[in-house]
Amino acid sequence: MAIYFNSSKRIFTIQTKHTTYQFQADAYGFLLHLYYGPKVEDEMDYILTFADRGFSGNPNDVGADRTYSMDALPQEFPCMGTGDYRSIALAVRDSNGAYSCDLRYEGYRILEGKYALEGLPAVYADPGEAWTLEVYLRDPVTGLKAVLLYGVLPELDIITRSVRVKNEGTEEICIEKISSACLDFLSGDYDLITFYGRHAMERNMQRVPVEHGVQMIQSRRGASSHQYNPAMILAERNACEEFGTCYGMVFVYSGNFRGEVEKDQFNQTRAVLGLSREMFHYPLLPGEAFTAPEVILTCSGQGLQELSHQYHRCIRKHLCRGKYRDQVRPVLVNSWEAAYFHFDCHTILKLAEEAAALGMEMVVLDDGWFGRRDDDNSGLGDWKVNEEKLGCTLGELAQKINEKGLKFGLWIEPEMVSEDSDLYRAHPDWAMSIPGRKPVRARNQLVLDFSREDVRAEVFGQICRVLDSANIEYIKWDMNRSLFDVYSPCVKDQGTVLHKYILGVYDFLEKLMARYPDILIEGCSGGGGRFDAGMLYYTPQIWCSDNTDAIDRLSIQYGTSFVYPSSTVGAHVSAVPNHQTGRITSLRTRGVVAMAGTFGYELDLGKLAEEEKEIVKEQIRCFHQYAPLVQQGDYYRLTDPGKDEAAAWMFVSEDQREALVNIVRLANHGNMTAVYVRLKGLKPEALYEDTDCGKLTRGSALMKAGIPLPLANMDYQSYQIHLVLRQD
Ligand code: GLA
Repeated sequence: MAIYFNSSKRIFTIQTKHTTYQFQADAYGFLLHLYYGPKVEDEMDYILTFADRGFSGNPNDVGADRTYSMDALPQEFPCMGTGDYRSIALAVRDSNGAYSCDLRYEGYRILEGKYALEGLPAVYADPGEAWTLEVYLRDPVTGLKAVLLYGVLPELDIITRSVRVKNEGTEEICIEKISSACLDFLSGDYDLITFYGRHAMERNMQRVPVEHGVQMIQSRRGASSHQYNPAMILAERNACEEFGTCYGMVFVYSGNFRGEVEKDQFNQTRAVLGLSREMFHYPLLPGEAFTAPEVILTCSGQGLQELSHQYHRCIRKHLCRGKYRDQVRPVLVNSWEAAYFHFDCHTILKLAEEAAALGMEMVVLDDGWFGRRDDDNSGLGDWKVNEEKLGCTLGELAQKINEKGLKFGLWIEPEMVSEDSDLYRAHPDWAMSIPGRKPVRARNQLVLDFSREDVRAEVFGQICRVLDSANIEYIKWDMNRSLFDVYSPCVKDQGTVLHKYILGVYDFLEKLMARYPDILIEGCSGGGGRFDAGMLYYTPQIWCSDNTDAIDRLSIQYGTSFVYPSSTVGAHVSAVPNHQTGRITSLRTRGVVAMAGTFGYELDLGKLAEEEKEIVKEQIRCFHQYAPLVQQGDYYRLTDPGKDEAAAWMFVSEDQREALVNIVRLANHGNMTAVYVRLKGLKPEALYEDTDCGKLTRGSALMKAGIPLPLANMDYQSYQIHLVLRQD
């Protein structure tokens, strides 16, 4: 078992393989956080200190004790109403409109297996692999009951958190803020690592010291967003890839979120992650309940590399689902950058023919196949095949593609509607807009009110008819704008709409998965605008970015790698000059970079020269050989592409017998200095063969001294080195 309760001191201890998490229900019933970090065997209540602090109040029931303050003590689930002035996890308004909540301990339950959250994505595990701790708290005045949920996967060093609140009082109350996890650190200097970006330049890694004041990341866009990924890492100031303690908090949610990190007046650090409180207001009538989405916590005592490995293992096997979870994904060619909106069945069949000749396995027909859609101004919402444009039915097209030995995949964007569409003309009120106002347009499209069951049912029906009409084995689920005009005529309180919208998206995806268990779904939102752990529960891969430029992708994929495994990263080789940046890189380099993800192509294959076709064939052969390593192996960042002269990463098989090293040299300069790349994750004593040249080198040499890169004669040269263990 991984969860222990000392009933005399009321201390809860969660032990994972390498970490310990501990908290205590103290004499007053407050839940005080005691410790999270590398494994300890002690009870840590001795670390609490008490002092009379000016302007930090004392709960009434502590009497004359001025040293006991919720403003200074570390807490498990701090709420507004007990005298804590820091960023809190829960704010509730009572029936008088007052912010008031004072949760005290009532009891607990330990269960075998990992809890699930109805209607929400969550980490899952077999009963023997995980444990659940439920801790019950109650506010006697409002009657609010809170169930803190802890899911523990000891082998993976993963602890998940969620909370369910229920109004067990007699009056309506309202949740104004609810965060799923809070971490309080009594001491230490930390850096905050987050991943910021923009459309076509997502998940840039930023590391800044945690100072006094609140640092915040959030999304108000209705989706998790390109701008900030819903993930935070707190790293001890001296922590690096292979050294130091660091903590991760990853939100399993695809909508508005907020992460706050605050160094308080006593130099204590608090990190809180959960739903955004902006545009959120959730009334609960007596008897009603609300469940907050999950946060995945992990801690590594050995730097960021181990932290990433822990997240990768958890997401790969305990969050992603479906038939393709463990399968190598088909090498696909996508029609978007090959033809954009300008195609008919001949264009697609020609692409399929070329793809088959090169060894690819699937053709994906992207945007433009439905309704009236020759550009991005019309047609969304009309999920009816435009047979006139295509020149045949979708069934016929899929069949012809299948006859060439390829699978067929299709793009959809179910949440959206164009004003110029039959759906909008029939149901203008289904698009989100605020009464009396004209909605904000983005990409000239509006957002369907997916909080509404009837709206979802209509779109679901339309899409099922298409999916039933042809042999479709893959779907790309896109979402190409942020939400703005947040209003739904069907809900009582508009502060609930954005959350209900996301629940609607999840409901749709769950139904789609249930009806089409064999279809591979790739998530997408203008590339990586909804690249989050919530979506990965439904879509085991997500188009990482609309930016297919190999060099920009180095930093995008580097940032992505801190939390998300390569098996989830949609990556394609595209044409040069690149359509987003105009940059020219070699086909080889584009291949190496795309092989850090699900791998595919997105260009007009007919325009490839003969020698390029040979390179493509070789790339596909290599990918097939390396795919199990890329998908299941451990991922090591060898350099930082933002700082170093080369971008380098490697995959190592679990048994350390095989590895694939990938290197892209960045800008070349005159009289270039020698660049060495040090490998990681190998067995130091073992001899590894470079399968290209047969050279044998010991793991220790490769890791301690590294390998020199040949001098480059142009920018962005790349290398792939395949190592196989020959002697232990
Ligand atoms: C988004 C996607 C692209 C492509 C287009 C089609 O931008 O990220 O890959 O599918 O939509 O409109």
